[in-house]
Amino acid sequence: MRKGILSLTAAAAAMTLGLTACGSEGGDTGAQASPAPGESKPAAAGKIGVILPDSKSSARWETADRKYLEEAFKAAGVAYDIQNAQGDKTQFQTIADQMITNGATVLMIVNLDSGTGKAVLEKAKSQGVATIDYDRLTLGGGAAYYVSFDNTKVGTLQGEGLVKCLTDKKAEKPIVAYLNGSPTDNNATLFKNGYDGVLKPKFDAGEYVKGPEQSVENWDNTKAGTLFEQMLTEKPDIAGVLAANDGLGNAAITVLKKNKLNGKVPVTGQDATVQGLQNILAGDQCMTVYKAIKKEAEAASALAIGLAKGEKPAATGTVKDTESGADVPAVLLDPQPIFFESVKDVVADGFVTKEELCTGDFAAKCTEAGIQ
Ligand code: BGC
Repeated sequence: MRKGILSLTAAAAAMTLGLTACGSEGGDTGAQASPAPGESKPAAAGKIGVILPDSKSSARWETADRKYLEEAFKAAGVAYDIQNAQGDKTQFQTIADQMITNGATVLMIVNLDSGTGKAVLEKAKSQGVATIDYDRLTLGGGAAYYVSFDNTKVGTLQGEGLVKCLTDKKAEKPIVAYLNGSPTDNNATLFKNGYDGVLKPKFDAGEYVKGPEQSVENWDNTKAGTLFEQMLTEKPDIAGVLAANDGLGNAAITVLKKNKLNGKVPVTGQDATVQGLQNILAGDQCMTVYKAIKKEAEAASALAIGLAKGEKPAATGTVKDTESGADVPAVLLDPQPIFFESVKDVVADGFVTKEELCTGDFAAKCTEAGIQ
């Protein structure tokens, strides 16, 4: 699927081309500060619109992506507007229309599904607005750039993580259940390709047993809980859960707790959320996948800033759009698996703080896990 992912150098170089900081506070001021005496006037940059998908399917969108994108835009002194569609596809389109009307020259989206994403991208392009797919590729959308992580690798790490935890528990012929991500999210397909690549050979060899599988619409954590409850009723001896992110993992853990099975049945995750990391510290979650969202936001904002200034910034590789067959210029970053011993790496990277993680009963666990 993916070819020629080189390094971040090009995006980083584009980043350094950003304007000098001129403090566009509040996110939607469109302000451009005048240069200090003696400085040359910075080139006028267009306005960057960003649409985030929701605030429930993962904590990341509001706690990490918004924060890091904002930091990058402020540092570059460009005008920007970041909004969240709160899972509403009509609202998503309305926000996009408003951004274009208000003079956005670059639109960066995390689609809610490829259909509405495509409509938004096509409208933007028809009005001369440059487009970026952020984190999720819009199939058939034809965005000028795509910035994300290697999402198949995310899934591979989840599959390998579950195998490690089942091996540690000396599980014999474990029944493995799947809680996949949203069927409308191309990333969910890539994650599944990744973990299937690790687990399917084990099912085929009779080493593991394939248990119940469900895709969770819109990554809805509440629905995931209901689905997992049904799975456990149907197969009470589920011995491992491949959950596609920390929210889905937590839904399964809540059900396992009710059945006094938490800690016995390893569960995977993704996003290194505070909740996911605490579940790992408690021994209820086997692993998560840490994606350095700061780097993702920096790479995407570097491209957006370059486009806003009328440049043609360089990507580091391409990904194949499986619907249109196009090679989309892309920057893909490397995800990292996190287990009990490596929770401290996420803290050291500044993604979560010791204060938010090591609360109450978790303080002792944090010490045990070497979190300084
Ligand atoms: C993102 C994940 C996130 C999920 C739910 C995916 O597209 O890559 O990081 O957990 O959406 O929001």
